[in-house]
Amino acid sequence: MNKLKILVIGGGGREHAIIMKLAESKRVEKLYCAPGNGGISRFAECFDVKATDLDGIVALAKKIMPDMTVVAPDDPLVLGMVDALNAEGFATFGPSKAAAIIEGSKAFAKELMEKYNIPTAKYKIFDNSIHAIEYIRTENKYPVVIKADGLALGKGVIIAQNEEEARRAVQSIMEDGIFGKSGEKVVVEEFLTGTEATVLAFTDGKTLIPLISSKDHKRALDGDRGLNTGGMGTIAPNPAYTPQIADECMEKIFLPTMKAMAAQGRRFKGCLYFGLMLTKDGVKVIEYNCRFGDPETQVILPLLDTDLADIFEAVYHERLSEIDIKWKEQHCACVIMASGGYPQGYQTGLFISGLNNKGQSAPDITVYHSGTKFEGNDFLTSGGRVLGITASGKTLDEALEKTYSAVKKINFKDSFYRNDIGQLQRGLRTKD
Ligand code: AMP
Ligand code: GLY
Repeated sequence: MNKLKILVIGGGGREHAIIMKLAESKRVEKLYCAPGNGGISRFAECFDVKATDLDGIVALAKKIMPDMTVVAPDDPLVLGMVDALNAEGFATFGPSKAAAIIEGSKAFAKELMEKYNIPTAKYKIFDNSIHAIEYIRTENKYPVVIKADGLALGKGVIIAQNEEEARRAVQSIMEDGIFGKSGEKVVVEEFLTGTEATVLAFTDGKTLIPLISSKDHKRALDGDRGLNTGGMGTIAPNPAYTPQIADECMEKIFLPTMKAMAAQGRRFKGCLYFGLMLTKDGVKVIEYNCRFGDPETQVILPLLDTDLADIFEAVYHERLSEIDIKWKEQHCACVIMASGGYPQGYQTGLFISGLNNKGQSAPDITVYHSGTKFEGNDFLTSGGRVLGITASGKTLDEALEKTYSAVKKINFKDSFYRNDIGQLQRGLRTKD
């Protein structure tokens, strides 16, 4: 059995979850991460190279000669890091630049869905703010969803409740350029109601295997109030995602998307993220991402019962059809502890109490680090989302109970978290 050296690109909770899963593999000999973070540094050798630094990462790969490189975040994928690594002969997990456009341009994604009859919200694309505002005024249906075309750190979606909010959203994206080039085009979209679910899928462009379903909680505060964030907590599986819905998604969304990308000459290899709305008219795609979700990955990978290194290799070599992916019959919950002020301004460098030298807390709890650094023997905060406290159980309640009791034993100044992660009444309620 060949021993593998694996390099993971990125430095958040998602990358920590990938690394801790790879650390379980008997085949993995050595783990590297760039840039990593405090928590990751306890499990992998970290290198201070930015995830978006294509030349820097290629140079690093030439130095450490990994057997496999996993590119986890959206921006390096959209910039073409996989192509750059492949060109130098490095086996890499993740989509090419041509395929990553499925996340890199929402206009592309919408046109793809329209062309291939993949269910999604009705939309129109604009490259001119006056025309966008005119259209919104004529339609006169609120709320209306306004999306910057390109990547915007998860902040590019604005749900406007009235004409005034919609006008301000379009102007700030297109005229004030709050998202830079990402806002040169906008998608104006019908507001969907229903229950949200996330499904990630491994695909090599020929075979697609969905992972266990999950639910993210994107708003900062309890009861889905406050600003949109990168994600404040997750559960898996998602109780609303039934086997019937899974069949519908496979037939109408997942396989058609994989085939559509291949037909466009943009074969997708990697992890494809489907953000779904379960509406009364069937399941519709809210968004695609070209990568693992964060913090979805933190609840999905703990339930995976197949060697992740085998899966990465199978996707790279286009042999995914030969892999049988197994799941633990358990539930998993992750609660994000964030810095006071997040998703806006916050302090960093604060001491985190309740963690041992490995950055962990109790034996049946996993603490994934999103924004920490390790200094001396201490973990200090270094980001908005700081830790993802995660536990599994036979039931969702058990997983949540374990998670929340662990959360209470970890602290840093002004930390906050949502108290209602996984609460069915909220999670399953219809959006109003
Ligand atoms: P995204 O950044 O695309 O994940 O969007 C952020 C959030 O906005 C999603 O998780 C949804 O809750 C919401 N959203 C996006 N598009 C729509 C839509 N067409 N209808 C209703 N909610 C939406
Ligand atoms: N949790 C949402 C994302 O990763 O985009």
